[in-house]
Amino acid sequence: MLDPSDFIQESIEGMKNTIGDKKAIIALSGGVDSSVSSVLASKAIGDNLVAVFVDHGLVREGEAEYVEKTFQDRLNLISVDASEEFLDRLEGVSDPEEKRKIIGEVFINVFERVAEDVGAEYLVQGTIAPDWIESQGNIKSHHNLALPHGLVLEIVEPIRELYKDEVRIVGSELGLPDEIINRQPFPGPGLAVRIVGPITPEKIEICRKANAIVEEEVKKEGIEDSLWQYFAVLTNTRVTGVKGDIRDYGYLVVLRMVESLDAMTAHVPELPWPMIKAISQRITAEIPEVTHVSLSVSDKPPSTIEFA
Ligand code: XMP
Repeated sequence: MLDPSDFIQESIEGMKNTIGDKKAIIALSGGVDSSVSSVLASKAIGDNLVAVFVDHGLVREGEAEYVEKTFQDRLNLISVDASEEFLDRLEGVSDPEEKRKIIGEVFINVFERVAEDVGAEYLVQGTIAPDWIESQGNIKSHHNLALPHGLVLEIVEPIRELYKDEVRIVGSELGLPDEIINRQPFPGPGLAVRIVGPITPEKIEICRKANAIVEEEVKKEGIEDSLWQYFAVLTNTRVTGVKGDIRDYGYLVVLRMVESLDAMTAHVPELPWPMIKAISQRITAEIPEVTHVSLSVSDKPPSTIEFA
């Protein structure tokens, strides 16, 4: 059984010894793993830890402000709006893997620039046990990361032995807000994996608003803790609709809500019908570009959780 206060003490001592008075950097996404790692590292080395929130333009509604508000008093936080750089590189790209590759590359470039500016020698990462056990079981705990333009950072992974439930326990002990600790997972490439086909600023806005409505209504219903993820996908399909007396040709949005333990498999549970209807009505009323909302009922496998 994990004793969270012992774990925190040992982790802080370990990082103090490893990093000393050098500078470290961490990419803070606002998810529970990077949040817990950031707060632990900051307790160890104070302002020598620089936490960087990179806004790739595909984050949730109000996310940059939310991360700033939550962490500005806890961390030495830098927020970088790199959305133009990301969106320029993504223009016209439809292939899901190509989107991920581009986002990964631009992210590393932006991150390397910040790391150089702050003179970081260490990179703190929120790797947890399943990340390395399931992927490449023999990955060394001590290793370096060479960035594309030559910067080499030594990796520090304070929560690499923990599982998600333990990360949450440590997060609570550190006094992080429940909202951070129990947040649904949000993919690194963000809304890019929820927009089918080419990404445009208009489509990002539609997808962002639809996702915000889903989050609000699921929380209003009080079932957020029973779902692994709940979100909206903007498809590349146009559907005829009618608004007033005028026929319209708008987007099809798909609602996706799944239960899962580890995202390896997932299933769609029975969902409260009035909530689904309320989400559908709000999306078509509040987002004029959408004419049709449907509900995904496919489990994983054979479907994946995300659409793109
Ligand atoms: P799929 O869609 O493969 O997703 O069933 C499984 C889990 O992983 C998340 N996901 C990602 N997370 N980068 C991430 O950081 C990605 O490229 C990515 N693709 C999917 C997804 O939200 C789900 O929790």
